[in-house]
Amino acid sequence: MIIAIDGPAASGKGTLARRLAARYGLRHLDTGALYRACGLAILRAGGDPDDAGTAVDAARTLDPALLKDPAVRRDDVGQAASKIAARNEVRQALLQYQRDFAAQPPGAVLDGRDIGTVVCPDALLKLFVTASLDARAQRRFKELRESDPHVIYDAVLNDMRERDERDSKRSVAPLVAADDAFVIDTSNRDADDVFHQVVDLVSSRMR
Ligand code: CDP
Repeated sequence: MIIAIDGPAASGKGTLARRLAARYGLRHLDTGALYRACGLAILRAGGDPDDAGTAVDAARTLDPALLKDPAVRRDDVGQAASKIAARNEVRQALLQYQRDFAAQPPGAVLDGRDIGTVVCPDALLKLFVTASLDARAQRRFKELRESDPHVIYDAVLNDMRERDERDSKRSVAPLVAADDAFVIDTSNRDADDVFHQVVDLVSSRMR
């Protein structure tokens, strides 16, 4: 059983993915953390995320332990992640890890940008979770403020707009809903409401 969840930053896909994994006893992979971990490794080494060789090296030598480092959530790490994620060689280097993860029993929930379109095109259920730019920036602002009281809303909004644009316009695996994905707009909905809707969808898909 594989559930693929794609969508832009702070759309609520991560929360939904964790809850679905717990509900169905599935493993969960936040694939954004893979790109973020590469970005973090580059920044810590003083490298340039815009440099092709640096980006590909980071993806090929990625230490999965870095996925759990809280620093992956930093905003500058998210920007670095989105830069390196636009490169085909980087995506290829990380693809097999994601497919192997998904293939292990009893199945998995993966969230990211290209799960339904590239990583797991045969998933049982594909969701595209989205929300307005403003709703998403508000959520990310609140999240970042917990660790940094000086964070500025407009900076978060601009970073998010820039990242949306880069992720949607790149030529390789752009952020786009799969043709057979169910689209959910979470702008004015809480996490419980969305979760219950998806549980109903899973039930009807399994029948
Ligand atoms: O948590 P947030 O939604 O802000 O982003 P993320 O899921 O942690 O992903 C960080 C960046 O990694 C994104 O902006 C994408 O550029 C990239 N990414 C990707 O290209 N493909 C994926 N499957 C997951 C993330």
